[in-house]
Amino acid sequence: MNKPLKQHLIDPEVCIRCYTCEMTCPEEAILHDDNNVVVDADKCNFCMDCIPVCPTGSIDEWRVVQDAYSVDDQFGFMELPEQQEFSQTNTEAATGIEALDDAIAQLLAEAHQGAGGKAKAPATASKPTVNMYTLGKPATAKIQGNYRLTENASDTDVRHIILDFGDLKMPVLEGQSVGIIPPGKDEKGNPHLPRLYSISSPRDGERAQYNNVSLTIKREENGLCSNYICDLEKGAEVQITGPFGATFLMPEDPQAHLLMICTGTGSAPMRGFTMRRQRTTGADNGGMTMFFGARNAQSLPYHGPLKKVPASLLKTHLVYSRAEGHEKEYVQDRIMAEQDSVAKLLQNPKTHIYICGLRGMEDGVDKAMTQIAQSLGTEWVTLRDEMREDGRYHVETY
Ligand code: A2P
Repeated sequence: MNKPLKQHLIDPEVCIRCYTCEMTCPEEAILHDDNNVVVDADKCNFCMDCIPVCPTGSIDEWRVVQDAYSVDDQFGFMELPEQQEFSQTNTEAATGIEALDDAIAQLLAEAHQGAGGKAKAPATASKPTVNMYTLGKPATAKIQGNYRLTENASDTDVRHIILDFGDLKMPVLEGQSVGIIPPGKDEKGNPHLPRLYSISSPRDGERAQYNNVSLTIKREENGLCSNYICDLEKGAEVQITGPFGATFLMPEDPQAHLLMICTGTGSAPMRGFTMRRQRTTGADNGGMTMFFGARNAQSLPYHGPLKKVPASLLKTHLVYSRAEGHEKEYVQDRIMAEQDSVAKLLQNPKTHIYICGLRGMEDGVDKAMTQIAQSLGTEWVTLRDEMREDGRYHVETY
């Protein structure tokens, strides 16, 4: 009989199919089919390079098995298999697993530094549908609208793209993403992989009761997919995968407070959350606070509509790094300037934190929160990990 072994797996329900792990793995141990992204147990050498790059934590799954799940087994997973009951009759094998456990724990601790950690959905979140449309069986949507959100004079071209799904089912929740498959092939002759974009509309549609979904997309210099989408005209057809994402979701509890921290297009899920609250909650709600960073007002997506959201629903801090006549300011600077109100939010057991946007912001926000937590006589890292475990701390940075 084989010795039991530890196997690295990916949670297909949480994975958002961004393929970053596959592109990162130096052993080429990670691969995908139309359905899932999987780890080849024969090739994985537990180097952990894939752990910090995963935006969702779906990469951080381990099982002790007698025989490794094959790549084909994993392609067929709809969810992860339970850890099987394991009779440790073989002491030598048990000691081997424990030693490997310790080594993996050590490597994981190092890999997680700066990473988002293992995400968990809010306890009261609705159950998301994931991976309904795949690479092999994508949905076809029509461009219903393509509007520039940033002023023409601004050096950033951010667009509001509305996708119409017609009669096709596309059940989404705020905070989820969809993939867009750019047409054509890469230099190896393979079809392009989908690029992921956060949904910026609420679950009942960009326009309520319409089967449409909006995305917030920034034109990136030399960006294959962003240029493709930003140039699409009304009526054009696009191939869509998803929906993806099972953790960056909003609580259904109307008394929860949402503390949203974002830069640029990281505002997309926050728009979805805000519109959902606008459509569903009355005056009696837990409130929302937003720290939103952009270069200036001209390049801040949804500047006009945001200003119109009633203060009873959303307290907005718009923060500019390159506005004429103003000192450079980042979201973390404003969080520090507002430390008393943020401290109150950290003490509220119904506060949920959402961070979305540039990866660099994460470090800055961590530092600000460390100081604010200290003023409360507590440690931010401990509080953050408790909140994450409780499904109240969510990060999606790139
Ligand atoms: P900056 O003026 O330094 O580029 P972008 O327009 O590139 O999408 O960026 C959105 C905003 O995020 C900009 O105001 C940008 O400022 C800001 N930003 C850049 N780096 C960081 C960081 N490390 N922490 C917080 N905000 C940042």
